[in-house]
Parts: sequence; C-alpha cells; structure tokens
Amino acid sequence: MIPIKGKRALILMQGAGARLAELFAGLSAVIKPGISTLEIDQWIENELARRQLVSQSKGYHGYRHASCISINDVLVHGIPSARIKVRENDLVKVDICAAWKGYCADSARCFLMEAASKEARALVNAAEEALNRGIEAALAGGHLHDISSVIQQSTESKGYGVVRDFCGHGIGHKMHEEPEIPNFGKAGTGPVLKSGMALALEPMITAGGYQVAVEADGWTVRTVDGSLAAHIEDTVIITDNGPEVITR
Ligand code: MF3
Ligand code: CO
Repeated sequence: MIPIKGKRALILMQGAGARLAELFAGLSAVIKPGISTLEIDQWIENELARRQLVSQSKGYHGYRHASCISINDVLVHGIPSARIKVRENDLVKVDICAAWKGYCADSARCFLMEAASKEARALVNAAEEALNRGIEAALAGGHLHDISSVIQQSTESKGYGVVRDFCGHGIGHKMHEEPEIPNFGKAGTGPVLKSGMALALEPMITAGGYQVAVEADGWTVRTVDGSLAAHIEDTVIITDNGPEVITR
C-alpha cells in the first residue's frame, strides 16, 4: 500500500523541503574547483544542523555522511572524501535526504564547474527536463508508470541512457517508502496515484550505456562505460490541484 499522508505530515514535509531548498541555494557558492567532497559534506552537515534538519543518510546501512557527492561518471552514492577534489571541468551531483520534526524531504542537484564540457551541460539539461516532465505526470487519477514513461521518453529521445538499477521512491516519515518509482516503464500501468501521496522523483541518466556498477567500497555507483552521468531529484506531493514540489 502506498501511504496517504495526513495534513500534519504534509506540513512537516513542506517544512523539511523548504529548509532543504534553502540549503541547496547556498551550495553552488561552496562547490568550486579545489574543494574536497568531504569539505562540501562538512559544510552540508553544519547547514543541516543550523536548520534542525536531520540527515537520513548518516547511519543508513552504515553510511557515515550527510550527503552523497558524485562526480562525472559516478552516478550516485559517491562517498565524501578528503582525497576527492573538485576539478575545473567537473559535473558534481549532490544528494541530500533530511528530516524536519520527523518528516523527510529528498533532493539532488547537478553543479557544473565553469570549464565543464558542452556534453556535460546538455546532459544536465536533459536530466532537468526529464524531472520536470515526470513531475507534470504526478497527477491524482493517473498511474505511477505515467511518470516513469515520460522520464524514459524524454531521456531516450535525446539519445541518453536511463539507468535501470536505481529508482525513485515514496517518502514521508521514512526516507524510502512504497512505491518504487522506476525511471522507465509503460504509461497507464502501475498503481493509481492519489492525492496525499508523496514521491521522490529522481531521473538517473547517462551520456552512454545505462549499465552501472557498484564499486568495492559498497556505495560508489559508476557507469560501466565511463560515460558521464546526471542525477537530479525533487520531492513531490500529489494534490487535487496538481503536483506540489516541496524541494524548490
Ligand atoms: N538520497 C538518496 C535517495 O535518493 C539515498 C541516499 S543513499 C544513502 O534515495 F545511503 F546515502 F543514504
Ligand atoms: Co531519493
């Protein structure tokens, strides 16, 4: 069963989302060539605490950080490290899930360094467009895979790959709730969407093949062919008046 949230849960999720959006707004000034991903994570940890936000990744299956920071061919779950420094042409993805008063919001953004390639910029645009198309399909009375299908079509029509091994998810009191939300699928299938459902939509796309593999550290997910990868995520509430994005 996909949970339907009550009024209080939705208000607290909105609070979490607004605070997380504010944090992300400050991030682009922090992510500059030379900074290590551990330093970025430490900045995030401070900013979360300042807003009474509680990281949902720290302690999750032994993960030790407040964020995942994934560069270039790393798609998701990059572990912050003092040894990994941002370079002038990097595509940096930051993913943060945090709770406020017990309710979660989940968001990820791409940050392009000044010397990033045209290819990297186009890939990020495609990820943003896929997410926006997906959000538009998050409609009461529609089907879950309407979202999956538009994300896939938007992405593949531009010649990019849609990762199969990771999905979006329901969200609320917990970071991961039902349902799983694939970024590929057939419109008109899957559970019927209802007002009060909360979904974390997160297209994960590649400039090459869609195959990815987890590294020996148990977390880092990299494209098998070394192609660039993009990941972007927003948390959306389905309402009778259409989708409400709470992380912007
Ligand atoms: N925020 C991620 C998601 O979109 C989960 C983070 S994985 C973790 O589902 F291990 F770091 F928690
Ligand atoms: Co998520």
